[in-house]
Amino acid sequence: MSIAPVLHATGIANFSAAQALAAPDMGAVNALIRTRLASDVVLINQIAEHIIGGGGKRLRPMLVLLAAQAAGYFGRNHILLAAVVEFIHTATLLHDDVVDESDLRRGRKTANALWGNAASVLVGDFLYSRAFQMMVEADDMRVMRLLADTTNKIAEGEVLQLLNIHNPDVDEAAYLRVIERKTAVLFAAATRLGGLLAGLPPAQEEALARYGLNLGFAFQIADDVLDYVSDAGTLGKNIGDDLAEGKATLPLIYALERASPTQAASLRRAIETGGLDSLDNIVAAIRDSGALERARAQAQKFSDAAKAALSTLPQSVARDALRVLADYALQRNH
Ligand code: IPE
Ligand code: IPE
Ligand code: MG
Ligand code: MG
Repeated sequence: MSIAPVLHATGIANFSAAQALAAPDMGAVNALIRTRLASDVVLINQIAEHIIGGGGKRLRPMLVLLAAQAAGYFGRNHILLAAVVEFIHTATLLHDDVVDESDLRRGRKTANALWGNAASVLVGDFLYSRAFQMMVEADDMRVMRLLADTTNKIAEGEVLQLLNIHNPDVDEAAYLRVIERKTAVLFAAATRLGGLLAGLPPAQEEALARYGLNLGFAFQIADDVLDYVSDAGTLGKNIGDDLAEGKATLPLIYALERASPTQAASLRRAIETGGLDSLDNIVAAIRDSGALERARAQAQKFSDAAKAALSTLPQSVARDALRVLADYALQRNH
């Protein structure tokens, strides 16, 4: 018998199987998240419970767990650091929804819609600093350096994006610079952590980070496509949020490149003014120009690069699961 069917029989074929592989560790991560959310300041508990209890895909902690497993790590710090990464992510979401004036997240009203901007920003700060308290417990300077650098880059990414708002001349390179920092670096940190904990040789640790970085690019491009083609019920976020705030994401950038002069003028105006008055026309222009297919193809390239990076690691079910996540980033509908 050839080996391929055997690998297939025991391998990880889809997202649920990848989730199942991480499930025992994820149970421990979720329990830790619950205990470490606690504060005797009631409003912190309420808001933190609201956003954490909304669920979310827990993709970043899953990356820490699977990368640690793929790297052959046998300790317990991956549980702690997976929770840290989810806290950092959640803090950025609290801040991001204030900045983006979003009112739906994880199928629930956002914290800013329910409690206001001030409370959201401050509880975001609580989660950030709780993440730092927890990462110190890992007592590993490389971990602290990585996560300090990562959170700093995320902040830069969000500020860079703010500078690009209402600017119709933002091109693909500028867009990629933003999403690298605001999204991809946290994915890269999540997977690098697995390698770091296991003490992998530098080339393999780099490969895990490269996998995460490329996955992060693919994930954010797919997210920006979903912002135009999904619906709030499925996505758990409002559609058209990016256009509403005058954010030129890849579908819009590509549409502008190929649009007729009349269409281009109305796309530029939509970016300059924001708002959703012309959402239907804009979506039509984006569809007609083939921008969605081009954006999906670009996301596919990043996903392929992510998978290619994995070849440096020894074969394992966890590595298969990481491969599956590279497909999931594109195929997901929320
Ligand atoms: C949302 O991330 C922010 C982006 C980078 C697009 P997720 O889509 O992973 O959010 P949750 O955690 O599942 O809600
Ligand atoms: C998400 O940015 C990145 C961070 C939270 C740092 P977006 O604004 O694109 O994400 P959504 O669409 O609100 O989830
Ligand atoms: Mg947002
Ligand atoms: Mg978005």
